[in-house]
Amino acid sequence: TLPTHVKLIDVGPRDGLQNEKQTVPAAVKIELVHRLQDAGLKEIEVTSFVSPKWVPQMADNLEVMAGIARQSGVRYSVLTPNMKGFEAALASKPDEIVVFGAASEAFSQKNINCSIAESIERFAPVVAAALAAGINVRGAMSCTVGCPYEGDIAPERVGYLAGLMKGIGVQRVDVADTIGVGTPLSVQRAIEATLAHFDLNHISGHFHDTYGQALSNTLAALQLGVFNFQSSVAGLGGCPYAKGATGNVATEDVVYLLHGMGIATGIDLDKLIDAGQFISDFLGRPTNSRVGKALLNK
Ligand code: HMG
Ligand code: MG
Repeated sequence: TLPTHVKLIDVGPRDGLQNEKQTVPAAVKIELVHRLQDAGLKEIEVTSFVSPKWVPQMADNLEVMAGIARQSGVRYSVLTPNMKGFEAALASKPDEIVVFGAASEAFSQKNINCSIAESIERFAPVVAAALAAGINVRGAMSCTVGCPYEGDIAPERVGYLAGLMKGIGVQRVDVADTIGVGTPLSVQRAIEATLAHFDLNHISGHFHDTYGQALSNTLAALQLGVFNFQSSVAGLGGCPYAKGATGNVATEDVVYLLHGMGIATGIDLDKLIDAGQFISDFLGRPTNSRVGKALLNK
């Protein structure tokens, strides 16, 4: 049976903007976060505490976190790949930190410059320190269906990574299709492999839309009972270490799908579309949300 309520994490300010070539001022990122929370988003992935040499766009992480007028009941998360990132993030008081690993060895090397096993060794003290400080911990699992360097990824490798994440105390995980190559059955296999280690309520779907499959994959995940999803307002984004990958599925499109199916999200679609228009206007290009485009042209 399908869930009756879905929780969406908007990753636009982080996943959406991390790959953006033009400088996006902190003030614009802060305004985007404000618009997302006004639209009813209860979880927002704000920024990353990664090397500014690797991802220059996220170098203003502290400024962005400090500038947000926080709303109670909203969870603000940040990416922290190692202790250095975690220690820097602490000052900004995130509600949740995200360690990010990959089911593919090659992607792990390209994205965080270490093997899967080494990444887990780096994450373990980060997870322990976060939990000790009362901060929630999520684990992103990249390339759970396909890898830009290795091709198809077997579900066993997803299960292996999920088990490692569970073993170090990660509380919930994202099953990410980093390059959007998945189709409903392959995505379901990746989720099923994760279900061997995490409950349904601790698994979220994170689907990039490179091949136009992300909404279908969302529905396939819903059919397994998954009710947490990540998406990006205006369909922003891509990963700098996954060449050619486009943004996440647009939050507007997921909300339209869910509301059309009678599934509640707590999100005001009109306000969300305005938020998408705000950032698209700043970037100087049309929104990637099909629903946004359709409703704006109505
Ligand atoms: P490294 O070069 O192996 O790190 O990078 P290192 O420990 O050898 O340090 C090298 C330099 O980086 C040193 O500075 C460190 O201080 C600095 P130097 O002495 O040369 O001046 N450094 C840092 N600076 C700031 N913050 C830090 C930090 N750590 C070290 N946290 C590292 C390893 C992980 C840092 C690097 O590979 C990196 O920053 N990678 C980030 C990649 C990234 O952000 N990718 C995008 C996010 S993941 C994603 O988008 C996928 C996701 O959406 C799910 C999906 O769709 O699949 C989540
Ligand atoms: Mg992503």
